[in-house]
Amino acid sequence: MSKLAVLASGSGSNFEAMVHYFRQQATADIVLLLSDQPQAQCLNRAERLGVPAAAQRVRDFPDKDSYERWIRDTLLDSAVDMVVLAGYMRLCGPTLLQAFDHRILNIHPALLPSFPGKHAVEQALDYGVQVSGVTIHVVDEGMDTGPILYQEPVPVFAGDTPETLQKRIASVEHRMYPRVVEAYFQGEVTLKARRAIWKEEPTWDCGF
Ligand code: GRF
Repeated sequence: MSKLAVLASGSGSNFEAMVHYFRQQATADIVLLLSDQPQAQCLNRAERLGVPAAAQRVRDFPDKDSYERWIRDTLLDSAVDMVVLAGYMRLCGPTLLQAFDHRILNIHPALLPSFPGKHAVEQALDYGVQVSGVTIHVVDEGMDTGPILYQEPVPVFAGDTPETLQKRIASVEHRMYPRVVEAYFQGEVTLKARRAIWKEEPTWDCGF
């Protein structure tokens, strides 16, 4: 069974959805939650759910690379196959990216490449879009860049606040993130992502 780890900085609702999904499906095991925020709510969820967890602040390390070596070594000690970012508010550096090459996924609360960064929901509302959404992608060194695996639109309604839109987006995230993670580690990724990841044309007839 695949071993997954989740990295989170905040509430951890996607982490919890993922734990419930994989406990039911039994196709993967969430073996670890790591956080850069020792007070984050995701750690309480991990305790309640019985998932091993650890947290360290970046500022308690001499530099970001030492912090990432801690993450990498902790993941390797638990024999983690794939890493899932769920509200992890940091860019991944070369140490993590090299150790888990194309095996780190992220979820973003907007239709990328629109509204990357930390304030996607507010920015989409301020811009006045009528449709926003959810993007799940493979992580590279950029901010919310990397090959897209899945997108789903979410309508924006008149009178929406950041809270109401975030809630609508979250329900899509909780439903889809575990399924896309599962499809990815089972090798069922989209053609577009395969092309972008492996930089080669598919060998099968894709019909267009
Ligand atoms: C989600 O909206 C996700 O798209 C973004 O951060 C939020 C995390 O929420 N990257 P939670 O901590 O999983 O509740």
